[in-house]
Amino acid sequence: MRYIDQAPSFVQLHRPRADAVQPELIAGLLATPARIAPKFFYDALGSRLFDAITELPEYYPTRTEAAVFAQHGAEMARHLPEGAVLVDLGAGSCAKAARLFPLLQPSAYVPVDISVDYLRDTLAALQQRHPELPMLGLGMDFSTRFALGPDSATWLQERALAQRPRVVFYPGSSIGNFQPDEALALLCQTHAVCESGGTGGGLLIGVDRVKARTVLEPAYDDALGVTAAFNRNLLRHVNHLLQADFAPAAWQHVALFNADASRIEMHLQATGAQTVRWPEGERRFADGERLHTENSYKWQPEDFAALLREAGFGEPRHWTDANGWFSVFWAPV
Ligand SMILES: C[S@@+](CC[C@H](N)C(=O)[O-])C[C@H]1O[C@@H](n2cnc3c(N)ncnc32)[C@H](O)[C@@H]1O
Repeated sequence: MRYIDQAPSFVQLHRPRADAVQPELIAGLLATPARIAPKFFYDALGSRLFDAITELPEYYPTRTEAAVFAQHGAEMARHLPEGAVLVDLGAGSCAKAARLFPLLQPSAYVPVDISVDYLRDTLAALQQRHPELPMLGLGMDFSTRFALGPDSATWLQERALAQRPRVVFYPGSSIGNFQPDEALALLCQTHAVCESGGTGGGLLIGVDRVKARTVLEPAYDDALGVTAAFNRNLLRHVNHLLQADFAPAAWQHVALFNADASRIEMHLQATGAQTVRWPEGERRFADGERLHTENSYKWQPEDFAALLREAGFGEPRHWTDANGWFSVFWAPV
């Protein structure tokens, strides 16, 4: 029997409500150096700005990852199970996963994202284009803990999908936002999600590789200033969540490759001494002081394969592009 849904189901485990995130934001603002986690980039405008970044000539990851899928997709599909429940971690526009539907023929699509309003809209549009594919959106902050949760289990059981293999898709090298120990913890939780479905599941993950600074830095500091706007939009979002009074125009975008740590770092640098206030506190910033907003770790493929094994996955395979800039790994349970 084919299941026909008019609208996708949606479970909102994460509520972007201020009181839930204020302690984390305040702790980061009061730290030295001050920091705000990259997950706070993504309000609805931040998600749209990220989509614009993927169109920029300097931003090689999206088109390089797409080239890897175009060249090796058919071979990848031979290793992946057909009819899997496709779980899309940090789905954003859902566009990447949708392009894989013909290849993977999933039995259901489960996108997960912290940007709840944006996901609701993009998923509703996708469901219209694929009315026969059951879709369940999960609004969740997976940096605290990734699990599908009891509501999803019920949803899968009601559709006789609980015993289908689970393929977790985590593209775009978003794993690079996590420090190696945090990445390991998320991969362990992902392994548990894959393992709790039917046999044959695993993780399909895009990973950006170490390369020349001359390629890396422009990708995070484009000539049009879209990435700068994306970085500053975080202050708008924090103003909303914390009732703070950041003046985004008083902060300069900084992106640099920290070769020792093998990561791109994004910062916002105060263009003058200033005090940022919120209802029960404040933070004084000196002229030139930086607020750390993102890390994007770049991996050597052998190190990432070792991390996957450490997380409990079986022997991983990976495919890359002609320049060896980006790898897509398939790590079976
Ligand atoms: C760099 S974008 C990638 C979007 C898309 N998957 C792609 O590859 O083009 C990261 C996505 O992950 C989501 N995200 C970031 N941190 C998250 C978190 N802690 N929990 C859930 N979603 C998160 C963002 O909202 C955003 O849609």
